Amino acid sequence: MKTGSRMNEFYERLARHEDELKWLYMELYHGDAQAYDYFVGMLARMYGERSAALRKLDRARLADPDWYRRRDVLGMLMYVSAFAGTLRGVRRKLDYVADCGVNYLHLMPLLESPVGRSDGGYAVSDFRTVQPALGTMKDLAALTGDCHKRGIAVCLDFVMNHTSEEHEWARRARAGEKAYQDRYFFYDDWEIPNEFEKTVPQVFPTTAPGNFTWCEEAGKVVMTTFYPYQWDLNYANPVVFNDMTENMLYLCNQGVDVIRLDATPYIWKQLGTPCRNLPQVHTLVRIMRMVCEIVCPGTLLLGEIVMEPSKVVPYFGTVEKPECHLLYNVTTMASTWHTVATKDTRLLRHQLEQVFALPGEYTFLNYLRCHDDIGWGLDYDFIGRYGGQEVPHKKFLNDYLTGKWEGSPARGELYNDDPRLGDARLCGTTASLCGLETARRSGDADRIGRALRSDLMLHAYMFTLSGIPVLYSGDEIGQENDYGYHDDPLKRDDSRWLHRGDLDWKKAALRDEPGTVENRLFHGLRRLETIRAAHRVFDGTADLWLEDTGFDGVLGIGRYCRGEKLLAYFNFDSCEHTVLPAGQGEWYDPFAERTYRDGAVPLSPGGFVWLLREEKPEEESGTNRALQV
Ligand code: GLC
Repeated sequence: MKTGSRMNEFYERLARHEDELKWLYMELYHGDAQAYDYFVGMLARMYGERSAALRKLDRARLADPDWYRRRDVLGMLMYVSAFAGTLRGVRRKLDYVADCGVNYLHLMPLLESPVGRSDGGYAVSDFRTVQPALGTMKDLAALTGDCHKRGIAVCLDFVMNHTSEEHEWARRARAGEKAYQDRYFFYDDWEIPNEFEKTVPQVFPTTAPGNFTWCEEAGKVVMTTFYPYQWDLNYANPVVFNDMTENMLYLCNQGVDVIRLDATPYIWKQLGTPCRNLPQVHTLVRIMRMVCEIVCPGTLLLGEIVMEPSKVVPYFGTVEKPECHLLYNVTTMASTWHTVATKDTRLLRHQLEQVFALPGEYTFLNYLRCHDDIGWGLDYDFIGRYGGQEVPHKKFLNDYLTGKWEGSPARGELYNDDPRLGDARLCGTTASLCGLETARRSGDADRIGRALRSDLMLHAYMFTLSGIPVLYSGDEIGQENDYGYHDDPLKRDDSRWLHRGDLDWKKAALRDEPGTVENRLFHGLRRLETIRAAHRVFDGTADLWLEDTGFDGVLGIGRYCRGEKLLAYFNFDSCEHTVLPAGQGEWYDPFAERTYRDGAVPLSPGGFVWLLREEKPEEESGTNRALQV
């Protein structure tokens, strides 16, 4: 395609959005026409730099807008260094990724970030350079190219709330350049910062208390919501938004398919507010969505909204004016671990009821564990109805999941324990939290079997939900906590390193050795994934509802899609239960390869069943497919 006609495509897409784009931009930036013109010019330039191969992929995805909602989409999240050392190493190990059935690969932050002051890569000092230890930008583009050939989409973080104190803008700000100080929040003294502190909560109350840091060199105070070396960017300055959008598009042009908008709710600050989820944040995200639809429509935005339940869903925007394509199902994740500890599914049912009622266009990313801690952002009003109170409840969850609670098989560690508020969060791998670590230490085959069952059950339940399931690298072989970080001076203060250990390739090799824990888990997951991919009942368009199981300890989920029905039961309890699926006739469990004829289905502690059958259309019309609770 010639450059002229190629640009037509850009201008056509721009024209489709321009009214709204310009309106929102001008409103946010007080009619700054010069900034807007620069912004649009930059979009055109970035489109011009997009490779022919990526533009082709954009068109293919536009023609198939549900490409990421297929039931065979399976994600994995990993640190490049922990998985394979370098980007080239990851390229060499793509067979393993494919062997895991993964076609969506989230690589943890890999851009330049000062060693020892990097927050696991979330303090970026150059958005255009890869950390030298991991490789180069060319290696990244080569990796995304290889992934695309194999049908694997690549996700990368875009850390937009802040830069590292070593970023060029920060260095120039420190040296006194006013234009660069204006890209951050600089104050001559503590008066305004102290005002902010009255309404702004703390993210890292123990590891990095306060939201501001004294910058000796500049002789000023700078806003640092996260670590003191992560300087908050001021998005009220259009130059910041323009340049950061360009940085994002640069990554998209390297072949990144999914942009994870890190710490999204924090990007707009205003005195007298909590500085989270302000309306301007939604305006910025909406603009970024339009930017992607204009420049690189094959790209998805994944919002990292780790907030209380009511704050999460608004980041989908509306069906007409969407913001993020994907959001983490964070409340469901936290409610799941609550259920593991309490063995009581009522809160989870309440949470899922709300998720199931959302429009089908809203796609969640479902996960059990990720690189971060588990924060206890639960619905405490609901818990309160059963007599639970926030602080003691969090203490119980933490006691249970760290193994302090009598009889708990779990092993985890606290994160940012804030005794003042009683607000510790929790770290640990899925396997260790499920009791696999303690079971293996005991050498007791029954205990190992039970822990494995719980681990598989949690994954089966995650695969039963609609959305994209994402495994945390290592979970496929039951990787345990890595206590080695305690001896590393650069890591020991941040317990999230507990679940960021290197992948143990010796153990990964055992996945093909029958009878090993790795083999049972790996192939168990593979079977679940294969069944999920094979049956239309797992389609994103399926109806979902909760089944009443008669037991608080057992979760029941129903799915129905074009003549196929699934009843799934998950026993979170420590005793056996028997469930009675509604309706006459046979059910087949493709996972256990077992047929149930008499209606009664036994569930061992930590066990699950996936009951499938074809249902005739006349039965279909007689059944109420709305939420059945
Ligand atoms: C996100 C990341 C977390 C990081 C923080 C600051 O929450 O997931 O790991 O510490 O942002 O960038």
